[in-house]
Amino acid sequence: MENRNKGLGRRKFLKALAALPVLGGLAAYGAPILRFLKPNLEPGLGLPKGQLQNLAEMDLPTGGALPLGSVQEFKEPWSFRYFVYTQAFAQYTPQRSKSATIPAMAIKLPNKLSFPGFQQGKVETDIVMFSRICPHLGCIFNFVPNHKEVTAGYGGYTPPPERQHGLMACPCHLSIYDPADAKVPGRVISGPAPREPRYMSYEIRDGILVVTGAEPGGIA
Ligand code: FES
Repeated sequence: MENRNKGLGRRKFLKALAALPVLGGLAAYGAPILRFLKPNLEPGLGLPKGQLQNLAEMDLPTGGALPLGSVQEFKEPWSFRYFVYTQAFAQYTPQRSKSATIPAMAIKLPNKLSFPGFQQGKVETDIVMFSRICPHLGCIFNFVPNHKEVTAGYGGYTPPPERQHGLMACPCHLSIYDPADAKVPGRVISGPAPREPRYMSYEIRDGILVVTGAEPGGIA
């Protein structure tokens, strides 16, 4: 009798042992599903008060202020400067820890035009700023102060007389943009780009050019 009981106990033990891999397998499959059901973070954690009221606002990228230099450095028409602006994306992490860098440029024009700043609306200015990410397929384009170099180095395009000045040109598929177009600064004048480059917004604080944002959107 005692031997029989011992045999039963051993069998139970072996059965339980055999079931372990099955239970482990179920746990391995089930854990990701349970994890998926649990939200990562409290919604809106770290966002400015009121921002959650409009979820669409979370799709807007935001960036800090980037002092670029004195306005005095942009005296000469067609002087320019490249810079990199860091943009944070609240929609990916409420802590805004995900950010992207945008190569951009500032150009001094010979005349003022109405520049569509992103935050403060249009401003009359002779300093314009653009993202350098080509709206065609995302290459980084250049500012070319001498239009003859555009003709020589960017596919032979010869600008009409009224556009024979500094131009922006993309080396990938040869889109050419006119930063000084009075109606659409950055207008596409040649090549496949579907729209003008994204605008950077800026302010002048105590004589310093401060970049304050980037027009939302990437390539068109
Ligand atoms: S990526 Fe610039 S023209 Fe195609």
